[in-house]
Amino acid sequence: MTNNKSKKNIILVGFMGTGKTAVGTYLADMLGMTFVDTDDVIEQDSGMIINDIFSDMGEKYFRDLESAAIEKVSKLSKMVVATGGGAVIRYKNIEIMKSSGIIFRLNATPEVIFQRTSQFNHRPLLQVDDPISQIRDLLEKREEFYSKADHTIDTSLLTVEQVADKIAGIYGLNFSS
Ligand code: S3P
Repeated sequence: MTNNKSKKNIILVGFMGTGKTAVGTYLADMLGMTFVDTDDVIEQDSGMIINDIFSDMGEKYFRDLESAAIEKVSKLSKMVVATGGGAVIRYKNIEIMKSSGIIFRLNATPEVIFQRTSQFNHRPLLQVDDPISQIRDLLEKREEFYSKADHTIDTSLLTVEQVADKIAGIYGLNFSS
């Protein structure tokens, strides 16, 4: 099967703690592609860390920076792109991502997400009294957007290597040259 998406990027979407950054880094290395994380682009371009962007400027300002970062990286080719968990909540972002490659949605159970995220404090949306309820609530609200991905992989019981292998297999089928 061939694919007419000439930029051939691999774009990873999915909730916080589903493994986008870990898998993306490993995968890029494995396939000889370049890894980029849109959260890093946002921090570099704004000169602010994400916690401060949320607290000082508000979520809408963050989402505007996120849309700009997605547009920027989508112009590049042969990239493995990890996006922030909320990158899909604007349909325009999904459209731009779709035009630049294949979208893989990583998923995990709320319990696994909680386990993987609870020891960190760099995610403003999870700095709440009841993070597990917040995770369940946001997962439910975002499902309609995540479901637009081309492929979904549940990472709850898989290693980083196993997830990367699955993605590389699908990517190879789509972009065999
Ligand atoms: C967010 C996820 C974070 C980061 C920001 C908002 C979200 O990225 O973009 O804190 O809305 O789910 P990760 O999914 O890489 O943690």
